[in-house]
Amino acid sequence: MLVSAKEMLNKARDGKYAVGQFNINNLEWTKAILLTAQENNSPVILGVSEGAGKYMGGYDAVVGMVNGLLKGLNITVPVSLHLDHGSYEGVFQTIEAGFSSVMFDGSHYSIEENIEKTKEFVALTASKGISLEAEVGSIGGEEDGVVGAGEIADAAECKLIADLGVTMLAAGIGNIHGKYPENWAGLDFTALAAIKDATGNSPLVLHGGTGIPDEMIKEAISLGVAKINVNTELQLVFAEATRKYIEAGKDLQGKGFDPRKVLAPGFEAIKDMVKIKMDLFGSTNQA
Ligand code: 13P
Repeated sequence: MLVSAKEMLNKARDGKYAVGQFNINNLEWTKAILLTAQENNSPVILGVSEGAGKYMGGYDAVVGMVNGLLKGLNITVPVSLHLDHGSYEGVFQTIEAGFSSVMFDGSHYSIEENIEKTKEFVALTASKGISLEAEVGSIGGEEDGVVGAGEIADAAECKLIADLGVTMLAAGIGNIHGKYPENWAGLDFTALAAIKDATGNSPLVLHGGTGIPDEMIKEAISLGVAKINVNTELQLVFAEATRKYIEAGKDLQGKGFDPRKVLAPGFEAIKDMVKIKMDLFGSTNQA
């Protein structure tokens, strides 16, 4: 059964580790992440961007697929199905479809409008036992057409949003989606510490998990980050493993063209990377 992310994130915050949000794109992705979570005895959050939801045939299809896999694969670790960077309309649609967690990304609104809309979702999600992520200070880079300028969030604004009673708060601290450029300045830990001081107990969310050096990940966790989002890195390892298979001409040998065989190396590459991240984030054996 899908669960809200609230309990797993409060536990992570108190235990000084982070739960990974891994974005899904299809059946292979979802199955690889769920199986790895189970093998690692780790809680997990499946992230679905609005673009990926559309790609998979809509939110009902996503909920049906994930629930079916939980049952069919006997997944017993806590799993949350989470809308990533949700629009105002997307939050209503995913709740209706059966998601157990949502992000309302109001970072591109004025802080007053972000507060107004987030407040509405605090009440709605609380009434349904669903977890809610809010965002202050947009995350840089581009994800599925959602472009953020990469601001450093203002701690006082973070407090205004956290005090509304959101489950978790994403705050820009120099992180960006996608690959980091060579000249990236790194995460701003002074800003993160100020945000933590201002927001108290709210678990903090680090977007743009791909390519952040391990030491920075650990420092971010020590400063209150309890959820880390990873998307691009799984796409990169999937593409690389698939390319190797095709370039080696394996699809031309015997029944190597069978889609289950073509997709198998990418599937295994996702599993390996998710395990590496769970071990790094400290969520292994925390289910
Ligand atoms: P990356 O694609 O950089 O890993 O970021 C993922 C993310 O933050 C999803 O919201």
